Amino acid sequence: MDKILILDFGSQTTQLIARRVRDLGVYTEIVPGDAELTGNIINSDIKGIIFSGSPESVNGEGAIPDKNVYTFTRADGGAMPLLGICYGLQRMTQDLGGKVESLPHVEYGRIGVKIKDQQEKKSLIQKFLKGFRDSFTAWMSHGDTLTKLAPGFKEVGTSATGYPAVAAHDEKPWFGLQFHPEVTHCENGDSILGAFVFNVCGCEKSWNMEHYIEELNTSLKERAGNNPVLLLISGGVDSTVAGAALLKALDPEQVHLMYMDTGLMRKNETENVKTILSKLGAKNIHVIMCEEEFLSALKGKTDPEEKRKTIGDLFITIQEREVARLKLPDSYLLAQGTLYTDLIESGKGIGKKARVIKSHHNVGSPLVDAKRKAGKIIEPLDKLYKDEVRRLGRFLGVDEEAIRRHPFPGPGLATRILGEITKAQCDILREADAIFIEELKKRKSPREVYLYDEIWQAFAILLPLRSVGVAGDERKYGYVLALRAIISEDGMTADVYPFESHDLLEISTRITNSVKEVGRVTYDISSKPPATIEWE
Ligand code: XMP
Repeated sequence: MDKILILDFGSQTTQLIARRVRDLGVYTEIVPGDAELTGNIINSDIKGIIFSGSPESVNGEGAIPDKNVYTFTRADGGAMPLLGICYGLQRMTQDLGGKVESLPHVEYGRIGVKIKDQQEKKSLIQKFLKGFRDSFTAWMSHGDTLTKLAPGFKEVGTSATGYPAVAAHDEKPWFGLQFHPEVTHCENGDSILGAFVFNVCGCEKSWNMEHYIEELNTSLKERAGNNPVLLLISGGVDSTVAGAALLKALDPEQVHLMYMDTGLMRKNETENVKTILSKLGAKNIHVIMCEEEFLSALKGKTDPEEKRKTIGDLFITIQEREVARLKLPDSYLLAQGTLYTDLIESGKGIGKKARVIKSHHNVGSPLVDAKRKAGKIIEPLDKLYKDEVRRLGRFLGVDEEAIRRHPFPGPGLATRILGEITKAQCDILREADAIFIEELKKRKSPREVYLYDEIWQAFAILLPLRSVGVAGDERKYGYVLALRAIISEDGMTADVYPFESHDLLEISTRITNSVKEVGRVTYDISSKPPATIEWE
């Protein structure tokens, strides 16, 4: 499959470049900008390389790519096409003998660009320029500019402020853009990226779900052979879709799905998970009921960190015990719903190359470590972004209900019950939370979208506070419940969802009427930062 490699120099929009190119139908991979470009990174599938932007300067701390990048040839013998974006262009310029200097003022925002040489004779440059309009609005964010192009390069586009905006090499398939074609504010950005990917690199559109599923089926069959595969299921989208992929590719008898009900789950969660997995053809669903163990370990604990640690440790203990109880042969493989974004440090490429591994419930599990060391880990989703996982899930017939689900943290309701956690409190929160979510699935926004789908994550939090109220003629001393609903791209930052006030008022009334222990409902109006999404 044709592939575009992206060298990440730390720009916030590196991920976006990867997404745009994938949306054009071409597979992308991101590696740190200073990665050694050796055999396992550079292979015959790579048809071109994009250098990302960076918050750094080439004259300062900015990272330097492996110098071999300028001498690579492709499998077909031609020179490797390169596209530098912002810092990427400055990097190429500096490395290849041009000059980059600071601008008197940082250029930021929308800026006009004019393509200079429309009579361009060189056919490769012409092919690239096919993606551009003669003049268009681009989006820039740079403090440095090119004051001398590197030998062999010429300026084929200029910004309204008079600086080089598009550069092209006379002989080699090397190009540079001072602006960011990947951001939506750039007019025609997709067609500019498309011109590089298709006209210059000659990529074929081979990245689509049908093709991906075919490849995945073959590779899962090869990896697993006849050995059993164990997948730890949390009930979230990722592990459910990973389960669906395994069940589709392998003999369902081979696939073992293990799910732990810690007692910190949402209302009907365990039943829902079982139904969804059965519908996918699962034969071996191991549901471990361990509410009592978790609640007794949490008894008397109020410190958030201590609560989290208790849950993480117990999770590992039970996981090891239950896996041993299954008596799988040593050759069994462990599957995880790790996503592509879990494996790379998004937008921070440089110096942060750690492979961030998402283990079940976010605990560094010795079982996962041991299996990884033994080369017995399968990660069917490790090439996908979250929305691609959702698309894959739909192709594999995963319930829409499971696909739309809001994220739910590994430690479950424990992050939403402040103070000591008891069964009674879990039950109160479960009821109130279920009403909140049910209402969000029933109500529509002014844009006619269900509130649940417009909101990224919503849930209720039970506070260890009681306040005075009246119920009938009686004084009532009920718990305070907070509601949280946020919009976000990836959970890293979040804004408060701006409900229509009648929705909040009606939801609050329904909760206090139905859950007698709750006396008061508040709405959390804190964004992230400074607050986090969860309360603990
Ligand atoms: P915070 O609270 O850090 O949450 O703003 C960001 C996103 O991560 C989820 N979250 C967790 N997910 N294990 C998880 O699997 C955890 O320990 C955990 N803590 C927070 C949270 O629900 C939100 O989506």
